[in-house]
Amino acid sequence: MVSRIIPVEAFDLVVFGGTGDLARRKILPALFRRYCAGQMPEGAQIIGAARSEMDDAQFRVFVTEAIAEFNGDFPYKDEDMQGFLSILFYITVDALGDRGWTELAAKMQADRVRAFYFSVGPSLFGPLAERLHTYGMADMNTRIVVEKPFGRDLETAKELNRSLADHFDEHQVYRIDHYLGKETVQNLMAIRFGNMLFEPLWNSQYVDHIQITVAETVGVQGRGEYYDRAGAMRDMVQNHLMQLLCLIAMEPPSRFEPDAVRDEKLKVIRALDPVDPGDIVRGQYRAEGERQSYLEDVENPQSTTESFIALKLHLSNWRWAGTPFYLRTGKRMRARSSEIAVVFKETPHSIFDEEAGRHRNILTIRLQPNEGIDLDVTIKEPGPGGMRLVDVPLDMTFTEALGPDAEQVPDAYERLIMDVVRGNQTLFMRGDEVEAAWAWTDPIIADWEERGDKPLPYDTGSSGPVDALALMHRDGRRWREVRS
Ligand code: BG6
Repeated sequence: MVSRIIPVEAFDLVVFGGTGDLARRKILPALFRRYCAGQMPEGAQIIGAARSEMDDAQFRVFVTEAIAEFNGDFPYKDEDMQGFLSILFYITVDALGDRGWTELAAKMQADRVRAFYFSVGPSLFGPLAERLHTYGMADMNTRIVVEKPFGRDLETAKELNRSLADHFDEHQVYRIDHYLGKETVQNLMAIRFGNMLFEPLWNSQYVDHIQITVAETVGVQGRGEYYDRAGAMRDMVQNHLMQLLCLIAMEPPSRFEPDAVRDEKLKVIRALDPVDPGDIVRGQYRAEGERQSYLEDVENPQSTTESFIALKLHLSNWRWAGTPFYLRTGKRMRARSSEIAVVFKETPHSIFDEEAGRHRNILTIRLQPNEGIDLDVTIKEPGPGGMRLVDVPLDMTFTEALGPDAEQVPDAYERLIMDVVRGNQTLFMRGDEVEAAWAWTDPIIADWEERGDKPLPYDTGSSGPVDALALMHRDGRRWREVRS
């Protein structure tokens, strides 16, 4: 496989919150990797902008340290590091005042793609957007990038959309859900719409159910205050799992283009039925050895926020009526493993003896780690002894199939930031999509609050509370094992 780097146009990228955690961990290291890959043209500028007092030289030291800490053993040449540092600049800017704005405007180059990354709390989105106009930095070609959490309910999401819409058109707003930038998540669309094999079977006539699991081994990782106000529902389900659900369930868009894809995703979210409270299991991880419990991690012994959630969902449309979708995600689980399993129905009639048993095909799309797809097919067990059937996986691990280039796939942020520069919104959430997702989420959370619902404890290193297993057992189904 030959990797193709398509250079982007020269750009000015301003990272507001340029000294913050996201910039340090993700944005700046990702930009460096793209630089090393040769994707940044001559004349590109990356400008950190934040309240901290710093100059260009200090910012370059800050970025060098961030790269050392977060780029692992990524190999690079010294000249690449020098080259990258030379396109980095820093300006102290007050988002709520006037400081730094004239200087920032003067730094912008004419005839360049301009992108402003709002890596700051949502309360600053409006003031930043306003100042970009006041100081003459925004035109119809300007792009702004915003991160989750995009609101904490429908009301706040609408308010954020409004404050952005006061200053920018929807085609200029790039709402990041980093799951959409993951290589295998994009592969979901390639598998579904690039093959004849699957699409005819992709409906409730042939699919028994679909399972989506995003299991993490980490806890709340020092983000206790944020997480305890969010929980797995707001932190993962409303956005990342919802996006996976959309891509797996949507109708084929007419083209792989931003609005064609996003229109289809929106229809999926709108087709979601309200969820029966009995179809939801929430959990909180217990302490184990050195590792603290959820309640200790968030320093709130009374917390009723969930670090695990499993739900059974239904979509009211022709394709999926009658096929349940089981979703689960949690922290401190047995393994870091994210996958989507499409479990097909059994054959309608077996021509074999009873002993041969009943079998079904399962298509598993492994998102991380060990990206690839498995298709479980039924074959005859080799050897004598009659017709005995056994299920074997046709395993396609992308690195094995595609060679070393598949190991070097860009991380989600690399792909997404370059898409901003290219002006391609396909992998970004549209405002109405985000609002529809909150409109579905809000009543579920309101119901927990009304009933004083409490999450069930589960063991660190397990696959969640036992009740989550029962959620499927009672339907005569089983979760797939959580393993890496
Ligand atoms: C983030 C959540 O959006 O996604 C985190 O806020 C979570 O809580 C993370 O750990 C998971 O992302 P990934 O890429 O590690 O699967």
